[in-house]
Amino acid sequence: MHQLVKIMDVDSKFSDISKILKGSAVRELLKYAEQPDVISFGGGMPNPLSFPIKDIEDIVHYIFENNGAKALQYGSTEGVEELRELISKRLKSKYNINGKKENIIMLNGSQSGLYMVSKVFLNRKDYVISEAPTYVGAIAAFNAQDPTWLAIDLQKDGMNMEELEDKIKFAMKEKKIPKFIYVIPTFQNPAGLTWSLDKRKHLLELANKYDLIIFEDDPYSEIRFSGEPLPPIKSFDTEDRVIYMGTFSKVLSPGIRLGYVLANDQIIRKIALLKQGVDLCTNVLSQYLAIEYLKRGIIDKQVPKIVELYRKKRDIMLDSLEKYMPKDTTWTRPDGGMFLWVTVNEKIDTTKLLQKALENKVAYVVGTGFYPDGRGKNSMRLNFTYSKDEDIVEGIKRLGNVIKKEIS
Ligand SMILES: Cc1ncc(COP(=O)(O)O)c(C=O)c1O
Repeated sequence: MHQLVKIMDVDSKFSDISKILKGSAVRELLKYAEQPDVISFGGGMPNPLSFPIKDIEDIVHYIFENNGAKALQYGSTEGVEELRELISKRLKSKYNINGKKENIIMLNGSQSGLYMVSKVFLNRKDYVISEAPTYVGAIAAFNAQDPTWLAIDLQKDGMNMEELEDKIKFAMKEKKIPKFIYVIPTFQNPAGLTWSLDKRKHLLELANKYDLIIFEDDPYSEIRFSGEPLPPIKSFDTEDRVIYMGTFSKVLSPGIRLGYVLANDQIIRKIALLKQGVDLCTNVLSQYLAIEYLKRGIIDKQVPKIVELYRKKRDIMLDSLEKYMPKDTTWTRPDGGMFLWVTVNEKIDTTKLLQKALENKVAYVVGTGFYPDGRGKNSMRLNFTYSKDEDIVEGIKRLGNVIKKEIS
């Protein structure tokens, strides 16, 4: 006898917010990156050669011989004190950022910081200001609060500051104060661009003038190949209005999921309260790994190795672009980080082109994914850190051919 199976109506039960959530272009692409014959410049992954595997193995032995019980236990929501102290000292000595350990909260990856900071500040339709383009993961995280985006054009040296001030005034006139300005001033993801010192200072002046919060996301500062280091905006912050976020993902490993936020007391308290409901505490074993990584000075030996590895790859990609791209294609020349941004002939739609690129066994991330308002039709993000040197040359050659064919 057949039994009638009742199909549950899940759709009607989803929250309004979950109904508007959409998949990200990066995630969609990861499945192609896994096919062995596709050269993918799509993902945002550090190169596995950058991981200090032997050092971590030694540290793990040390932890379990000395601190095993603590490392396997729940920890405080804010994180292990010794680690927050070490981070506070490093931020002071490297970037002249003043921040006590009490103002640092450890996170399971800085991605969760994007989610929690936006959850702490944004109501539905609140204004949030970002660069255009901006990090696709920030778009996904903030969109979970359904905000109104004011995405400001990113120029070679930072945001278009006139446009920014106009948009701030426009929002003020509507009596809707933008809740925060989200920026990635150094080796921006996706564009690979870096804000000038002038624009960094100008941004803080505007924030002071209009009483706004800056959310400075800084995962890439340590990965500099060329040019002079620039101070983070947080280092000029005398009014405690900059939320600074860092991560161990690019200087140690993304798999250990360890990031942090440095902010004023009130903000840290709110994030901690929220975090108690999200995940109670940050991975304690990872925090002990990071303590030893910093304390033993391994980070200062490892980062130069990562920089060397990536500088070579960036140069190979830049040379290959020069060689294989058609004349009307332009690209950024990053001084660090993991990505560069390519703009192709304006008649080309890179979303449509992706299918052809995949048929030719090369992948990238389409530009529109990095604009909260759907711009960027003829652009793409390329990651230069993950692929083997020879694959970078071959992949750019394939991509150049696909673009040339499309134009002709
Ligand atoms: C700008 C930016 N912010 C945040 C993240 C999230 O990093 P994680 O969660 O690994 O710390 C990334 C990752 O690529 C990023 O590029």
